Amino acid sequence: MTKPIQNKTSGLQRHLELSDIGIDFPTAKGPFCALKNLNLKISKGEFISLIGHSGCGKSTVLNIVAGLYQATTGGVILDSAEVNEPGPERAVVFQNHSLLPWLSVYKNVELAVKQTRNGRSRAEMKAWVEHNLDLVHMTHAADKLPSELSGGMKQRVGIARALSMQPKVLLMDEPFGALDALTRAHLQDSVIEIHASLGNTVIMITHDVDEAVLLSDRIVMMTNGPAATIGEILDVDLERPRDRLEMTDNIKYNQYRHAVLTFLYEKQNKIQTVSRVKADIARSKKKSSSAA
Ligand SMILES: Nc1ncnc2c1ncn2[C@@H]1O[C@H](COP(=O)(O)OP(=O)(O)OP(=O)(O)O)[C@@H](O)[C@H]1O
Ligand SMILES: [Mg+2]
Repeated sequence: MTKPIQNKTSGLQRHLELSDIGIDFPTAKGPFCALKNLNLKISKGEFISLIGHSGCGKSTVLNIVAGLYQATTGGVILDSAEVNEPGPERAVVFQNHSLLPWLSVYKNVELAVKQTRNGRSRAEMKAWVEHNLDLVHMTHAADKLPSELSGGMKQRVGIARALSMQPKVLLMDEPFGALDALTRAHLQDSVIEIHASLGNTVIMITHDVDEAVLLSDRIVMMTNGPAATIGEILDVDLERPRDRLEMTDNIKYNQYRHAVLTFLYEKQNKIQTVSRVKADIARSKKKSSSAA
């Protein structure tokens, strides 16, 4: 089920290509090689999750695709153009929303819309801001300041702001990491809905195995650093729309879940004797066999 580095897009039209990426960070002790020989081809509209242990280099990959970091070797090509600076066609949702605290929800989104005007009139821009707030169900809070919002609401605005730029690629760095389970589930559902209707290419970093399986077309699993790279890629062949409750009894879902856990905690084991994780793997095995 898991395959060593390969990609199902070969032969298809190239959209986003990470080619031989390597990065050395300068440090007091000399260069630190965070990533080495990282290759990935992504097709248009694909939902990719990036998963791996803390510090392996996931954010670094995302920042290189965003154009915020420059790779030391190799590079990123988006629709035949090399990426070497940030651009509105690659919007980022950071873990900590990063809204401007002195602007209302509406104004935060409006700012992004003004930056990527796309020839819209004032009235069209207003309608576009409203449309994007509506997508994440935040119309009711348009006049509130970020300080008046819950964590989940702030994340929604961050997502609306990114979507309003109509990016070809949506980059999300643990977008739901700081949220409680219920809010997280609601936001995951919103992202599933938005991805289904807009068809953007998405790269999402997550630590949550269920989230990765539920949302992704492919799960890209990274090896531990230094000189981290892609260890395995898992194709998630589950029909959409995916219902989170039905998934718990789905054999394939549980097998995918198990494959990711095995990669993280057996093949790339970093933290020894983590009983909770072992119990999780055992539970997953039991579920797969009882569902079969
Ligand atoms: N600017 C920098 N200078 C030096 N080292 C860096 C820099 N940025 C990242 N690193 C190092 O590169 C490695 C990868 O960092 P990165 O932030 O990409 O990890 P990550 O997988 O996103 O981790 P986490 O899951 O904890 O967010 C780490 O060892 C980190 O210490
Ligand atoms: Mg990170």
